[in-house]
Amino acid sequence: MATLTINGHAHTVEATNDTPLLWVIREQLQMTGTKFGCGAGLCGACTVHVDGVAVRSCQTQIGDVGGKKITTIEGLSANSDHPLQRAWVAEQVPQCGYCQSGQIMQAASLLSVNANPSREEIVAHMDGNLCRCMTYPRIVRAIERAATDVRASNEAHGAGRKA
Ligand code: FES
Ligand code: FES
Repeated sequence: MATLTINGHAHTVEATNDTPLLWVIREQLQMTGTKFGCGAGLCGACTVHVDGVAVRSCQTQIGDVGGKKITTIEGLSANSDHPLQRAWVAEQVPQCGYCQSGQIMQAASLLSVNANPSREEIVAHMDGNLCRCMTYPRIVRAIERAATDVRASNEAHGAGRKA
């Protein structure tokens, strides 16, 4: 038995400590927005946040995340209105869509610490998230668009984030 805090809710699950977080999220809790791609830490489809940091949930054992704050794509925003989600729509990023929740979660971890990333910083940060449909140019454009929104919001609210 383990208790995990996911998207602000405590979930008690029947699983051993070495069970991958991805398995629990998808199979036990039926949160299927997080995808299984390679299962080996190589594609990024399974990306979630643990205490705000992007991690590969297929490579994260639940015994290591008890007491930590886990966020999946379902919990990134209240109404699918995170600046990245809006930018993804505006730029029409997805093709098949399979990789995209992982892409957004990876990008969100960048914008949470750097609202003014250079194109090189975006490419470097997103480097491990693969897309078979080759949507990479639209992903970069969407992140740049979302960063502009985040900076505007920060300025409007007087936030002191890096800009
Ligand atoms: S499924 Fe986790 S990195 Fe590919
Ligand atoms: S949109 Fe198809 S794998 Fe990325």
